[in-house]
Amino acid sequence: MPIGVFGCERGDSAPVCAEPTRSDRFPHGVASADPTESSVRVWTRVESSAEREDVRVIVATDEGLCDVIAESSAPALARDDHTVHVELTGLAPSRTYYYAFELGPERSAIGRTRTTGAADRVRLGFTCCASLAHGWLHTYDALAAQELDAVVHLGDYVYEYENGRYGSLRGYEPAHATITLEDYRLRYGQYRREPPLQALHARHPTIVTWDDHEIANNAWRGGSIEHDEAIFGPYEARREAATRAHAEWIPRAGGAEGERFRRFSWGDLAELFVLDTRMERDPPPRDEVEAAAPGRSILGARQREWLFEGLRASTARWKVIASGVQVSPHAEFWNFDAWDGYADERRLLLELLEREGITGVIVVCGDGHKSFADDLARDPLDPAVYDRATGRGAVAVELMTPAASSPNLFGGEARDFEAWVRSASPHTHFVDAESRGYWTLELAEDRALATLSFVEGIERPTGGDERVAAVFEVRLERSGLVRVR
Ligand SMILES: [Fe+2]
Repeated sequence: MPIGVFGCERGDSAPVCAEPTRSDRFPHGVASADPTESSVRVWTRVESSAEREDVRVIVATDEGLCDVIAESSAPALARDDHTVHVELTGLAPSRTYYYAFELGPERSAIGRTRTTGAADRVRLGFTCCASLAHGWLHTYDALAAQELDAVVHLGDYVYEYENGRYGSLRGYEPAHATITLEDYRLRYGQYRREPPLQALHARHPTIVTWDDHEIANNAWRGGSIEHDEAIFGPYEARREAATRAHAEWIPRAGGAEGERFRRFSWGDLAELFVLDTRMERDPPPRDEVEAAAPGRSILGARQREWLFEGLRASTARWKVIASGVQVSPHAEFWNFDAWDGYADERRLLLELLEREGITGVIVVCGDGHKSFADDLARDPLDPAVYDRATGRGAVAVELMTPAASSPNLFGGEARDFEAWVRSASPHTHFVDAESRGYWTLELAEDRALATLSFVEGIERPTGGDERVAAVFEVRLERSGLVRVR
């Protein structure tokens, strides 16, 4: 694992140019995020009791940090929980870089990152939903080992629960539900001491959006079904605390001031639209009539305009949309917490793709703790609109990323659910309600390959075996998924 391993300890003949020091001043590792053709944001945190310490960041083209191309310094401030964010600029497109932080003679782990840029192949990894109380984060180790341009995290990066509330294999810090800024900071700190999460961040640039558990279960901008103000105090204060800790611990372009919905591009090959489907949304609906009511929005007007205009104007072959929650409907089962609860806006999105002839759209979602591979069609249950065999009527496809560690159904219950989905949803090409794992997406000129991997042994510290569960192909000239394995 790259974490905690410094240049000199690799034991091979790679040149090492910096004094190697195993430091406990950087116990949360390093991270890089939100790459562009010329920039990337890098992150670390300093263990400190000072108001301010100045940290040096060095950037090199080689893993041994010999060929240093940039050095700068940045403050670790107590008011930011001693997190350090540095925007590296002036980088070359489609290049791999290495970076580390230094505090006097002490050195952090070495991170690897990569800029975007024109390419004939782009590989992205997708993950979400990491309940620490349900096991170990082997899924992140598996993703760290993949050759990827970036990893997209679709949210539920942390869970807010108290011990014993949701899973009991491991205890949380703090032991109670996260409410205050201090609580959320402690929770992120616990997660970021997990070696697999450090490995993931050190190995790939990440692009992170949030879902509900970064704040509270089924959160929206004005509340959460599990936030009782009589017990926890004003929701707004909790939301502010959660938002601030997230900005401190999860690097993203622009920092706390940066937009949460944002776009990344790899030349004319691919554009990635990362959505905030959580905190711009209208209140949850009470019933199916309200869920389908016109004008209800999961995106909010500003984000919807940005997305729709971006899709319309995009010249990229592939338009990947990272949505925290699932777009696809599934017969009579309505998930009010997903796009089902905002069905009119879903209709607008699918109609836009159809009307404007926008092709190459792949939605990847999280939140459900299941794996899905669906065709997205205006009305998938109407044979006049959609045909599963040919993909006619499909305007996009959607992949649901299984959880990194959070559970769903087990054994017979899972099989029953899967059988029901298969019988009720002609547009579902794959469903699994039990396994943990991840998707990777390889985007090439005329086709995209989506690979679903399952990771075993989440409940054991020594687990982590993986297997490929399914591979789908999407072709630019034909909408809809084709299973190739
Ligand atoms: Fe989740």
